[in-house]
Amino acid sequence: MTTPHIALIGAGNVGAALARNLVARGERVAFGVPDPDKYRDLAASLGAQLGSVAEAIDGAAIVVLAVPYAAALQVAADIDDWQGRILVDATNPLAPGLAGLIVGTTDSAAERIAAAARNARVVKAFNTTGAENMADPHRLAAPVFMPVAGDDAEARATVLALATRMGFDAVDAGPLRAARYLEPFAMTWIHLAFAAGHGRDWAFSRAPLRG
Ligand SMILES: NC(=O)c1ccc[n+]([C@@H]2O[C@H](COP(=O)([O-])OP(=O)(O)OC[C@H]3O[C@@H](n4cnc5c(N)ncnc54)[C@H](OP(=O)(O)O)[C@@H]3O)[C@@H](O)[C@H]2O)c1
Repeated sequence: MTTPHIALIGAGNVGAALARNLVARGERVAFGVPDPDKYRDLAASLGAQLGSVAEAIDGAAIVVLAVPYAAALQVAADIDDWQGRILVDATNPLAPGLAGLIVGTTDSAAERIAAAARNARVVKAFNTTGAENMADPHRLAAPVFMPVAGDDAEARATVLALATRMGFDAVDAGPLRAARYLEPFAMTWIHLAFAAGHGRDWAFSRAPLRG
């Protein structure tokens, strides 16, 4: 894994969806998972590289955490030095059974991950809509709103540009502490999708002024 690529830590719903989108746009992606054999067929079908978490991070300038929140914190802390890499946090700190959030609103998963990830530039993104919408935002009839927050302006701009290329209506949400509101915002989508019975086939969208 020597050519620069985007590392996707986790190859479940979100990891696979982001891979599908990124590969379709010509990006090189590499999955990093605890048991690569489990995902060999998926990686081959998507045209993604596959390896251990350390192998995927090696050679990546951008690393996306597409794992449960507890695992994301662990991965963040396990790396001795992130060497300035952009670390995109797509997690939501969900309580068991989607019963709510276990962090917020005076703190956020993203800020805790940033505190654990030595020398990483953490950006919050890809947490506020369902995985199907991440695979192909154009399946919906209106642009899919995608807020992006982070303290490092260059890292935030890089992820904003990437999300725009991926087909999202990517919006600069300012510093990482905005994740305190973006994570409950994601919970609103989850609540509407499941508890309120509206299903997964929709996304939040911005409505501009007429004219
Ligand atoms: N699903 C959605 O629509 C959605 C939308 C927005 C945000 N999110 C957030 O995105 C994150 C991932 O959700 P998901 O639905 O994709 O979960 P998922 O389908 O359960 O996939 C989780 C992935 O993480 C891997 N994993 C677990 N522990 C790991 C570790 N220590 N190191 C590396 N990989 C590890 C799993 O590998 P194994 O299979 O080997 O366990 C699996 O590939 C969550 O934080 C969730 O809240 C989800």
